Amino acid sequence: MANKILGIAGSLRNDSYNKAVLKTLAQSSWEGVEIEVFDISSIPLYNGDLDGEHPPDPVRKFKDAIAASAGVLIVSPEYNYGIPGVLKNALDWASRPGYKSVLKGKQVAVITCSMATTGGARAQSSIRDCLYACLAQVVPSPEVAIPSVQDKVQGGLLTDARSLELAGGLVKALAQASRTA
Ligand code: FNR
Repeated sequence: MANKILGIAGSLRNDSYNKAVLKTLAQSSWEGVEIEVFDISSIPLYNGDLDGEHPPDPVRKFKDAIAASAGVLIVSPEYNYGIPGVLKNALDWASRPGYKSVLKGKQVAVITCSMATTGGARAQSSIRDCLYACLAQVVPSPEVAIPSVQDKVQGGLLTDARSLELAGGLVKALAQASRTA
């Protein structure tokens, strides 16, 4: 468990820049910690009637994957100044049962990427608020928001040196926190 970080992209798009950034980070080992990417596209819309001890299979797999990881890395766009619905939906499933979920005490780091000059920075606080509600431990580190991401991804990978340095610094902090968790 101490050797794995679960990577989640907040966009379902095949050619997603956020997926590309996550994929780039997942190609390296960080302080001996590996990133495993989890695809949230098959997670259904939250429905309390389906929740409980036997949730839908994709939800069970998602919760098991979080439980088996020492940390979680979220790489997400900003949608209308906030958290994308697909990401919120996945975190809502993972958040149950309230205050006793697999996210409780979990080390989490957040990167946002946007084609705009703001880098999706406005989604940082809504993603963090959601994580605080889940009692997750947001890694104390400067926020990483990658602006004009379309100019920094080539061939499906993040190639911009400064962005790699900033994202790498955050992932190292997450890996370190995850190793000691
Ligand atoms: C966006 N986009 C966007 N960008 C931004 O910087 N601030 C915003 O509030 C929004 N809002 C928004 C809403 C919706 C519904 C969509 C579809 C898009 C643009 C978005 O950041 C851009 O499309 C990214 O490239 C999406 O990330 P992926 O899919 O490339 O990872």
